[in-house]
Amino acid sequence: MKVLVVGSGGREHAICQSFRRSGKVTQVLCANGNAGIAEIAECVPIKPTDIAGLVEFASRNAIDMTFVGGETSLALGIVDEFEARGLKIIGPSKHASQMESSKSFAKDFMARHNVPTAKYVTAHSPSSAVRSLESGDFGDENSPVVVKADGLAAGKGVVVATNRAEAVAAINEMADLVGADAAEKIVLEECLFGKEVSLLMFANGEDFALMPPTRDHKRIGEGDTGPNTGGMGTITDSSLLTSQELENIVETIVRPTLRGCVAEGFPFRGILFLGIMMTAAGPKLLEYNVRFGDPETQAILVRLETDLVDICEAMVGGTSQEFPEIKWRPGSSACVVLASQGYPSAPKTGDMISGLDSTSHVPNVSVFHAGTSMLVPGEYYTAGGRVLGVTATGENLDEALSVAYEAAGKISFDGMQFRRDIGK
Ligand code: AMP
Ligand code: GLY
Repeated sequence: MKVLVVGSGGREHAICQSFRRSGKVTQVLCANGNAGIAEIAECVPIKPTDIAGLVEFASRNAIDMTFVGGETSLALGIVDEFEARGLKIIGPSKHASQMESSKSFAKDFMARHNVPTAKYVTAHSPSSAVRSLESGDFGDENSPVVVKADGLAAGKGVVVATNRAEAVAAINEMADLVGADAAEKIVLEECLFGKEVSLLMFANGEDFALMPPTRDHKRIGEGDTGPNTGGMGTITDSSLLTSQELENIVETIVRPTLRGCVAEGFPFRGILFLGIMMTAAGPKLLEYNVRFGDPETQAILVRLETDLVDICEAMVGGTSQEFPEIKWRPGSSACVVLASQGYPSAPKTGDMISGLDSTSHVPNVSVFHAGTSMLVPGEYYTAGGRVLGVTATGENLDEALSVAYEAAGKISFDGMQFRRDIGK
């Protein structure tokens, strides 16, 4: 079969690799891909936001299945458009994608279905958000509060303010930070404390199959300092959640969510990503994402042993179709992101990358390309903020981390930055 992957980052490189390993796939295509993806897939120059162009391409080229990487295409309704043309595609509908594309939609949904989450208020203007704070909805002027833009903001729409003055500043700056559309509504939230964990699943209606729990490292600097990024590294490891915690999350968050989607007429099909805070009062849901995470996916898919095509068939089949038993490579995994100088605010690009060849000799390592280009045949150059995701598996977390860092140590480019404390 011919599979089309939509997107151009490290996540999509990992997805393409999983499809390449499938015995059922004869050709992998990627729109629009990057220099690393081009080694294993045919890249086609159609942007993930060009939904009409993607539909045309898939039908003209007899694509058997399309897999959507990122939220932007989903929020634009790519799944509805493909399905209207009878094309098989993996991902949630435009309506279901609001679970990610609108924070107020997601919070109201959680409230309707008793999913534990932070107390919140949705404000329809900056001034009403400020009034809500001043009326004491979130404690006094010294209380922390979280300010979120309602719409998609590529990770820039959340400010964890340590007091009211910082929150007011964030409210007033939000439209400049993320654009007027995304900031049309503002969600204020009680600040939660605890360990964060991400839990992703393959879902079809009320059926689901969990992936190994994972942890992202969002800040640019070691010790979780500095500005937020798209993610500087991830691990999968069984110590992230005990089996009792996992069971509790399934009963209080996963099942009510999937049942709620069915009850509201939009059975969820695709990948559902839960951002969870393990608070003293139990697990609370921070957010839904309706797609694979980046770089969570890199660390998850290197452990997938079941054919991804079989899992995809279960996500698009009728709700009577059950998921195959999914096998994960035992142990742990780690992904260390190598980013360019100036990331996240002003990434410098166009620097030559050396040492990539020598990583191919390190066992159990995959180097996924995020922002790379091949300006000269055979030579890779940086072409984005996050450049590479060096990903390794191991029998335990220490081994996965040491292999990932060993491989990362062989790669260099001008201004390269990475965190040395992933998984610590
Ligand atoms: P989100 O995009 O909603 O996951 O928010 C991004 C990050 O902000 C999360 O990964 C958390 O670290 C933090 N965050 C979001 N909501 C809260 C909250 N209610 N309390 C504390 N931290 C939060
Ligand atoms: N790494 C966070 C995300 O993909 O949303």
